Amino acid sequence: MIETINLTFSYNREPILKDLNIKIMKGITLFRGPNGSGKTTLAKIISGLLPPKRGKVYIDQVDIYNDGEKARRKLLEVVYVHDNPVILKGSVYKNLIYGMRIRGIDNKEKLHTLIEYFGLHSLVDRKSYELSAGEKQIVSLIRALSVDPRYLILDEPLQYLDDERRAKVIKYLVKLKKKGITIVIATHEQELTKYADTIYIIKYGNVDLKKARGT
Ligand SMILES: Nc1ncnc2c1ncn2[C@@H]1O[C@H](COP(=O)(O)OP(=O)(O)OP(=O)(O)O)[C@@H](O)[C@H]1O
Ligand SMILES: [Mg+2]
Repeated sequence: MIETINLTFSYNREPILKDLNIKIMKGITLFRGPNGSGKTTLAKIISGLLPPKRGKVYIDQVDIYNDGEKARRKLLEVVYVHDNPVILKGSVYKNLIYGMRIRGIDNKEKLHTLIEYFGLHSLVDRKSYELSAGEKQIVSLIRALSVDPRYLILDEPLQYLDDERRAKVIKYLVKLKKKGITIVIATHEQELTKYADTIYIIKYGNVDLKKARGT
């Protein structure tokens, strides 16, 4: 479970998030809300990438910004995927194995299953800079999925994808949800709301709970 306690964040002036207390359980949670309301900011904070100004973030009772080595180990279970895919120079394959490399794990069989499932085999040996926006997005998603995260935080994961790949990503996320993975998606996609267990509407400093689990 991810829990924020009185989480407050500002970049420089007014707080963007104020005294936020939310709990994120297993299954699919969406962050929705207008442009600039703080969805990406909150997603990065709960992923361990952006420390809050005040308040705490716990993942499974570990304070991810203050618990030292315990926090570092807990954050290995968390993967954040940026809205604008982060792509390294070199081959597509180098990009795909990068997630496993930095975690020191070898999930090559899983990686090949993902490459097959998302129909990426013809691109594996290409140079990463040659890829289209949607191809980059799917590469960054496969890289994240290959490390078997327990917490998968996705920022606009469908934005560049065609209909067929969108459907495949959604199907895969639903499968992960059934396995007990915690998935958080910051998104404007109306389509995703029907798969969500919980939807938080981020509204300039406040958060409304729209759809609670089981309702
Ligand atoms: N690095 C930064 N420095 C200063 N202000 C920032 C920075 N990043 C974001 N902001 C501001 O913080 C607010 C929240 O931004 P954020 O990216 O979290 O919004 P969002 O809800 O994800 O928006 P969108 O729907 O457009 O993706 C915005 O007003 C934005 O201008
Ligand atoms: Mg955003």
